[in-house]
Amino acid sequence: MDPRPVDRTHDRVAGDSSAAHTFTDVAGPPPFVIALDGPAASGKSTVGPAVAERMGYFYLDTGVLYRAITLAAISHGVALDDGEAIAHLARTVCLEVHPPTRDDGRQVDVLMDGQDVSLEIRQPAVDRGVSAASAHQSVRAALGAPQRGAIRAPGTILAGRDIGTVIVPEAPLKVWLTASVEERARRRSAQTGEDLAAVLGAMRQRDHVDGTRAVAPMKPAVDAVEIVTDGLAPEQIVEEIVALARSRGAPG
Ligand code: DC
Repeated sequence: MDPRPVDRTHDRVAGDSSAAHTFTDVAGPPPFVIALDGPAASGKSTVGPAVAERMGYFYLDTGVLYRAITLAAISHGVALDDGEAIAHLARTVCLEVHPPTRDDGRQVDVLMDGQDVSLEIRQPAVDRGVSAASAHQSVRAALGAPQRGAIRAPGTILAGRDIGTVIVPEAPLKVWLTASVEERARRRSAQTGEDLAAVLGAMRQRDHVDGTRAVAPMKPAVDAVEIVTDGLAPEQIVEEIVALARSRGAPG
């Protein structure tokens, strides 16, 4: 059998709170949440969708929300140090995340006010600006509700930086995926074709900003299971996470 994530046709995740699902408005057992955190290129976006596929769960890469809002700020000429203006965009722009409709390297379709920005959110300008835009408390607060609102039954995997520490601290399974910065830079450079030394430098810089920001810094939750992915095949990591989830009573 080929278990599919639940219908994702209407994955409006921001800009319209009426579409949100919450723990309290769903009958039956609460959705099982897997908080999948870790630095860039630690394997979240390879492993997360595979675990979701295996378990029939919904998967959301929350980084796309921060990237889309950063893109919106850049294209509206909003300065990346203007947290209030970026937070306003986060509250008013309509973001939707759907399964991919094109085979051009995208993992998901990201629509911003109906416009396909799936590739634009991966541009170097967004890479450079996203840490600064996402460091503002007001921006993080504006994007918190849509992340929690994306949770749905029977289970959801939210991938990010602060899912286990801030967004869903009650998640029954928190996984911290990591790998050495050299290994992560090698993976990213192999994916994008960018120069390895440049990727390594940018990644060190982004790790530093994400890990030292005052608000919700990137760090493992105290009760997270840490998986160091250097030298591990994706299937091994998927197996480990599925086994952990089932051992904690996850349906699916
Ligand atoms: O996962 P990613 O590389 O696409 O994330 C882009 C940036 O967004 C990352 O540098 C930090 C920010 N981010 C965040 O602060 N919190 C999240 N939950 C997800 C991403």
